[in-house]
Amino acid sequence: MNVSQLAQVNNDDQQELEQFAADVFTGLSSDPKYLSAKYFYDDTGSELFQAISQHEDYYLTRTEYEILDSHSPYLPALLGEDEIDIIELGAGDGHKSELVINRFLEAGVKVNFHAIDISEKAIDMLGETILERPNLSVHGLIGDYFEGLRFLKGRTSKRQLVLFLGSNIGNFNHTESKAFLRRLWSSLNADDYLLIGFDLKKNINELINAYSDSSNYTRDLNLNLLARINRELGGNFDLSGFQHYAVYNPELGAMESYLLALGEQKVFIEALQQEFEFEAFEPLHLEYSFKFLPAEIDSLCKQTGYKRIENFSDKQDRFIDSLWQVTLRNG
Ligand code: AVJ
Repeated sequence: MNVSQLAQVNNDDQQELEQFAADVFTGLSSDPKYLSAKYFYDDTGSELFQAISQHEDYYLTRTEYEILDSHSPYLPALLGEDEIDIIELGAGDGHKSELVINRFLEAGVKVNFHAIDISEKAIDMLGETILERPNLSVHGLIGDYFEGLRFLKGRTSKRQLVLFLGSNIGNFNHTESKAFLRRLWSSLNADDYLLIGFDLKKNINELINAYSDSSNYTRDLNLNLLARINRELGGNFDLSGFQHYAVYNPELGAMESYLLALGEQKVFIEALQQEFEFEAFEPLHLEYSFKFLPAEIDSLCKQTGYKRIENFSDKQDRFIDSLWQVTLRNG
């Protein structure tokens, strides 16, 4: 591990826990019930996602790796910088970022790499993959993406290349995606770059397999959120009383993950001093993973203040990494 600076950007654990409790209250009081996938990623969740990303059924990670492997050699010449700040939102395990970083180093470009992730575990895993070496500095930031970007703003002066890989944007609906990209636009400077990964719409069976992997890691990732409520908020969910169900919603263009109560279950959550009741077969919605058409990617790009420099795709057109540049004026 060689993360040179491990700044705790957001050290208000108490406030985070209160927000978690409030969101759990809102979601479990709603009809139909829901929880947010953003709470998947405590340490256990980050490890489970890591296992998913290496699983045969989950094509996204290896496909994006293939794209970056074959196309990132073009990046240094496209950007034309001799020193660059690469900022990764959502650290992942670093294998993909490592690929991109290496291409810049090989082209003689100096790289300052900053990874921002809410999970300390994720930053640790990344630090084990990406080691400092001549012309490369590595920094880990634990916290919210925008807090991290704000923290970096005063400290860096080079052209920035933001990596938002893995189709992480797929967890947002279209309104949230636009808001996110526009907020990112505001925190960048004119001519900065964004390399953003989108999973494409495709054969539904492939999608369903990816979100119901045969080793049940995806099920466990979903169940871990209930376990997290038990751990952190004093809940008493009986995890064995839920079935994981992943389904494609063709009208939304999104995979959706549910936990279905197998029988009636009463759950008491101490931090909320409240009991929540599940009826038999009642659904609990946990995640959206939106899928895209190339035209949808383009319109998202234009609408939020960027221009597309290049789309990089794999041989089977499963996934696109799109290189955008911040434009000063929109439209
Ligand atoms: C990390 C949000 C890209 O939606 O595909 C993997 C998370 N959920 N399997 C995705 C996830 C279930 C993943 N992202």
